[in-house]
Amino acid sequence: MRAVTWHGRADVRVDTVPDPVIQDPTDVIVEITSTGICGSDLHLIEVMAPFMTVGDVMGHEPMGIVREVGPEVTAVKPGDRVVVPFNISCGTCWMCSEGLFSQCETTQNREQGFGASLFGYTKLYGQVPGGQAEYLRVPFGNTLPIKVPASVPDDRFVYLSDVLPTAWQAVQYAGIPQGGSVLVLGLGPIGDMATRVAKHLGAGQVIASDVVPERLARARRNDVQVIESTDQAEVVARVRDLTDGRGPDAVIDAVGMEAHGSPVASALQKATAVVPDAIMEKVMQVAGIDRLAALNTAIEAVRRGGTISLSGVYGGATDPLPLMRMFDKQIQLRMGQANVWRWVPDILPLLTEGDAFGVDEFATHHVPLEEAPQAYMNFREKKDGHVKVLLQP
Ligand SMILES: NC(=O)c1ccc[n+]([C@@H]2O[C@H](COP(=O)([O-])OP(=O)(O)OC[C@H]3O[C@@H](n4cnc5c(N)ncnc54)[C@H](O)[C@@H]3O)[C@@H](O)[C@H]2O)c1
Ligand SMILES: [Zn+2]
Ligand SMILES: [Zn+2]
Repeated sequence: MRAVTWHGRADVRVDTVPDPVIQDPTDVIVEITSTGICGSDLHLIEVMAPFMTVGDVMGHEPMGIVREVGPEVTAVKPGDRVVVPFNISCGTCWMCSEGLFSQCETTQNREQGFGASLFGYTKLYGQVPGGQAEYLRVPFGNTLPIKVPASVPDDRFVYLSDVLPTAWQAVQYAGIPQGGSVLVLGLGPIGDMATRVAKHLGAGQVIASDVVPERLARARRNDVQVIESTDQAEVVARVRDLTDGRGPDAVIDAVGMEAHGSPVASALQKATAVVPDAIMEKVMQVAGIDRLAALNTAIEAVRRGGTISLSGVYGGATDPLPLMRMFDKQIQLRMGQANVWRWVPDILPLLTEGDAFGVDEFATHHVPLEEAPQAYMNFREKKDGHVKVLLQP
């Protein structure tokens, strides 16, 4: 089959790789019809590159049609339409029954000291072949795939794999009081969706910051108050003006480690490009990488006693945090990979009964799988209005 494969920094290709096969009696094979490119994929071709191997199949936002099922699969059958969550969670262990699917104890990467395996991600998360491919092997066929109706276009459901539950969890973790205020940092797919979910769940004032014109325009169209800057001092001053000088009840960081504005980060970015991977891998596991620009803005912007909800992904083991400031401001901080299945029962009805979040128009680009390398670069450079790309194998 054809699949998007990792070859190095800023280097993805489409290669022919072996078709996946049923390995366990509860596996299913899904023929992929739509599959997103995520901000998290960008980390893999940049700072997280030391944890990747040439030939790794990428992608973790797939949906498609079940083509084959193992002998013990009863929940889905060939022909069913399914979305595949980005967490590989068994659905039955202690963590899964607590709703902490991204910490699944069946797929936790204990040797690496990391949480549940993820499709198409680094060796820290199991190095499992991903879903930017013609076919995907999906384990836990009775509990993992999300069955969706057959009659509506893919765009309606594909974001159940990641974007929607991630944005939903970001808003839940933000703990915005009914009618309260939230600042969303970053208007990529995750931040944009978080503004929509925040409104849906009752936020009274939704503010967002970014600098990419098309992304700001999308948010404006949804009546978000936009701050056209990612500069900490400017964003903090503007958001205070908009919130009685106090700061918002909550800040959602939907940026993560590719933030603009980290002074040391660009130096480190260059370092990851020249230092051998074995050394860089060590550096990232034992040291900080100082890409905390967005998080620091969140800490300064949030009102005293407010909550920061981190959905942007961070790496680097000892990045320093301004603890005195955080303690004094009495900040609450919640974070983590989205626990996809935790939120599916809440979100699915909002997609089958209508289009509560404007997902039908959410993708800016639909691209054949063969054009993935260019699409990755366009998304990375935020060129030509690229906000969300769906690949169509
Ligand atoms: N927690 C999870 O489960 C989960 C799931 C999916 C994605 N993510 C993470 O969420 C983050 C966003 O993903 P995305 O797909 O929207 O990516 P993206 O890269 O398209 O979006 C990030 C946006 O942040 C903006 N930005 C950069 N620096 C900023 C700053 N200092 N202040 C404000 N805005 C800034 C960029 O211009 C860009 O528009 C990534 O870190 C990704 O890894 C987490
Ligand atoms: Zn993703
Ligand atoms: Zn589990």
